[in-house]
Amino acid sequence: MFIEKSLSSYKENIFHAMKDDWFLITVTSPSEVNMMTAAWGSIGVMWNKPIFNIVVRNTRYTYQLLEKADSFTCSFFSSDYSEQLTYCGRHSGRDVNKAKETGLTPIEIDGNTSSKVFTFEQAHTAFCCNIASITPIQPEHFVDSSIEKHYLSKDYHTMFTGYITRLLINEEKEV
Ligand SMILES: Cc1cc2nc3c(=O)[nH]c(=O)nc-3n(C[C@H](O)[C@H](O)[C@H](O)COP(=O)(O)O)c2cc1C
Repeated sequence: MFIEKSLSSYKENIFHAMKDDWFLITVTSPSEVNMMTAAWGSIGVMWNKPIFNIVVRNTRYTYQLLEKADSFTCSFFSSDYSEQLTYCGRHSGRDVNKAKETGLTPIEIDGNTSSKVFTFEQAHTAFCCNIASITPIQPEHFVDSSIEKHYLSKDYHTMFTGYITRLLINEEKEV
């Protein structure tokens, strides 16, 4: 069962959580729930509000869904789920139903967002976010020219900044 916690009580090392265990970005349309694996992002404060920044390349199905969405969730799992997260990072929701293929169980939660949001029974933590701002990452802004090595196909990320509306912790999976 997921319970709401205050953001100031969040104690996890976010560098380890993102870089080593990764997370799932989940976006919901009226007809489907799709998730993709991410290892890049940031959490902080912007415009006096807690925010979660995700970066999504425009080639992803998730990008198409985000363009029409007003919210997303970021769900974190223990390393026991690395196989499932690898699957979600290698397959597109255009071709497969990733929840069905991985056995991850979507559950609808009250994200205090404008539309329905989902996390997964197996997640230990979920951040619910309302999209506040959409910023294309543009190469002319790179001060460090070596960043270009991440964009050999010129498929630059777009940064979606979400206001964090709720932090939910899974009591059965607490880390
Ligand atoms: C560990 C890992 C981290 C990833 N991080 C990102 C990311 O931050 N942004 C991104 O656009 N794609 C990232 N990807 C790639 C997407 O997860 C992948 O292309 C996925 O199949 C997209 O699914 P979709 O087409 O259903 O949106 C990552 C993949 C892996 C395995």
